[in-house]
Amino acid sequence: MRKFGIIGLGNVGRTVAYTLVTKEIADSLVLIDKDQKKARAEQLDLQDAQARLNTTTQVTIQDYADLKDVEILYITAGDIAISTNGGDRFDEFKFTAAVVKEIAPKIVASGFKGIIIDIMNPCDAVTSYLQKLTGFSKQRVFGTGTFLDTARMQRVVGEKLNVNPRSVEGYVLGEHGNTQFVAWSSVRVQGQAIEKLPQAENFDFDELADAAKQGAWEVASGKGFTSDAIATCGVSLGQAVLSDARLVCPVSGYSERFDTYVGIPAIVGKNGIEQIVELPLSTDEQDKFASSAQMIHDSVAKLV
Ligand code: 2OP
Repeated sequence: MRKFGIIGLGNVGRTVAYTLVTKEIADSLVLIDKDQKKARAEQLDLQDAQARLNTTTQVTIQDYADLKDVEILYITAGDIAISTNGGDRFDEFKFTAAVVKEIAPKIVASGFKGIIIDIMNPCDAVTSYLQKLTGFSKQRVFGTGTFLDTARMQRVVGEKLNVNPRSVEGYVLGEHGNTQFVAWSSVRVQGQAIEKLPQAENFDFDELADAAKQGAWEVASGKGFTSDAIATCGVSLGQAVLSDARLVCPVSGYSERFDTYVGIPAIVGKNGIEQIVELPLSTDEQDKFASSAQMIHDSVAKLV
């Protein structure tokens, strides 16, 4: 039984749910939201969709006890309306830290033994706090982190070079937020380091990094929130866990050195984070990583 859970049925949570059902990824899905009517509505909507599908996902709602045998649990109870106002996901932390405080004991009490994938913002700080409050191993709790920012970087670079974003390799690292950076030393296209690519000779790399970073606000200012790309990132990480794919990707993983979760490349497999991958970053990139990680660490330290 491929059993998933989602806490928080806003635009992201429900898109994750829709994807898990319509792409036939989940056999069973537990939906939880603070709004009972909303949870029931999403359950009905997904059940009605299944009259037109060939497979069945059992959708249950509002029962923490049902998380007991869930394999992948998504935390999506944030509120982008807060962070679009000014463009800093940390503005959400007051709200989302309270959510973590409320749900962590309930998750633990359910006997949940699976993997938590946090999507709620500020992703790295919330993931750190969730791990601390649940006491679950740092392997079992991770966040989407800069997986999405990396996708945005791939889009921006792909557009510039007129190649498919999937043919752009490399990582955005650090905070899923304003202190993130593109590790240009890791970016490769057509088998070559982008910095050495003749077509990229006149690229303004800072401008490209900024376009990737601003991607969230560009989407949110047009539709009021972001949902499809982040939900797709979350689902693909869940699939990587379920199928023990050992996918190497940047996620919010635990850095021993900085004692915090931060966007870092990791191998994702059946145990969650199988291994953190050390990259040979340039000195400038190492400094950016250190200050981003330190900022996240300090923000969480104020809470615990
Ligand atoms: C995103 O980057 C807002 O964190 C959300 O789409």
